[in-house]
Amino acid sequence: MPPSFEPGAPAHGGMIPLCVPELRGNEWKYIQECLDTGWVSSVGAYVDRFENELARRVGVKYAVATVNGTSALHIALLIANVKPDDEVITSSLTFIAPANAIRYVGAYPVFIDAEPAYWQMDLARVAAFLNDDCVRANGETRNKKTGRRVSAILPVHILGHPVEMDPLMALARQFNLTVIEDATEALGTKYRAHNAGQLGDIACFSFNGNKLITTGGGGMIVTNNAEWARRAKYLTTQSKDDPIEYIHKSIGYNYRLPNPLAAMGCAQLEQLDEYIAAKRRTADFYTETLARVPGITPMRQAPWAFSTFWMYTILVDEKEFGMSSRALLNALAQANIQTRPLWQPLHQSAVFADIPHAACPVSERLNQTALSLPCSVGITAQQRLHVADTIIGLARL
Ligand SMILES: Cc1ncc(COP(=O)(O)O)c(C=O)c1O
Repeated sequence: MPPSFEPGAPAHGGMIPLCVPELRGNEWKYIQECLDTGWVSSVGAYVDRFENELARRVGVKYAVATVNGTSALHIALLIANVKPDDEVITSSLTFIAPANAIRYVGAYPVFIDAEPAYWQMDLARVAAFLNDDCVRANGETRNKKTGRRVSAILPVHILGHPVEMDPLMALARQFNLTVIEDATEALGTKYRAHNAGQLGDIACFSFNGNKLITTGGGGMIVTNNAEWARRAKYLTTQSKDDPIEYIHKSIGYNYRLPNPLAAMGCAQLEQLDEYIAAKRRTADFYTETLARVPGITPMRQAPWAFSTFWMYTILVDEKEFGMSSRALLNALAQANIQTRPLWQPLHQSAVFADIPHAACPVSERLNQTALSLPCSVGITAQQRLHVADTIIGLARL
């Protein structure tokens, strides 16, 4: 039997955690079935079911399950034919995984600043890079400064909010670039009438522990391209070329998701709508309560977006609020409330120090001022109120 929790009150030693999984559905039952039947490896009915159900939910034809979101991005880049020494346009303000995956295939990221309203990749800056810094010849786009071919755009929908995809797709088509969506933080997110994951040519999801639904660790590649889906399955299963003999005609990867984790994914997916509703309730509460606190800017949703508010985040103006985002993080930690800053912008990371980039002042400012607040699916109204009251108590009102 699963341990029984009081609804929405996970045992974290009195601490209000940033974002922890919610495991109260059929997870135990489905995983037990895998253990009872011995289907514990990366082939099994739950793998097929998780792929089919996720594809249906996102509104794409094919889905291929992977061990995590990073491996999904790695394979998606290979499938999109990104070659060593190519360049891939991506967001500067994101978790590092997509930029790492670009380097796994030997290509180089071109970091684009965030826009200030919704903190996503700034399409005006993508357009400026393509129009001013690139040339088009023989159907290819080349960076004038580095001489490298620009072959793809990898927009990252951060924090549950989408990137503005219409102008992005128009630029991609104009410059002959493949679009790989990093939708790892955006299951259930919509751009206009479409789901994140069905907007580009290929997309990736993650199901790590803090994502909206989790398999502990896991990922998914989704696409409408049958040949790409076949290739994704082939590459993630060590490029096995014969059902019986061990024949391999290309380098492959051991990236498939085990059946018990896929079982957990099926159980989690059954609860996705409830989870989204819970995240949005938390967002509404924080926004209403904190918007009137001087120096706090709540996270927003664009008129063309449906955000899941996967990771609810505020901006803290040090002068107006009376303390910096990092000082607030420490003060909340003292009060047993876990919060987190946003990622170091990737153009500032030591890993990418040699990579030329345009100025990214918005990403830098967001990194200095942002703070993500406790927003687990299971957070209680009382816990949310305590977080907001503690912040208000610390403000220079
Ligand atoms: C934007 C982004 N891309 C990629 C990943 C990688 O996913 P995973 O941790 O499943 O490898 C994550 C999350 O961890 C992420 O937040």
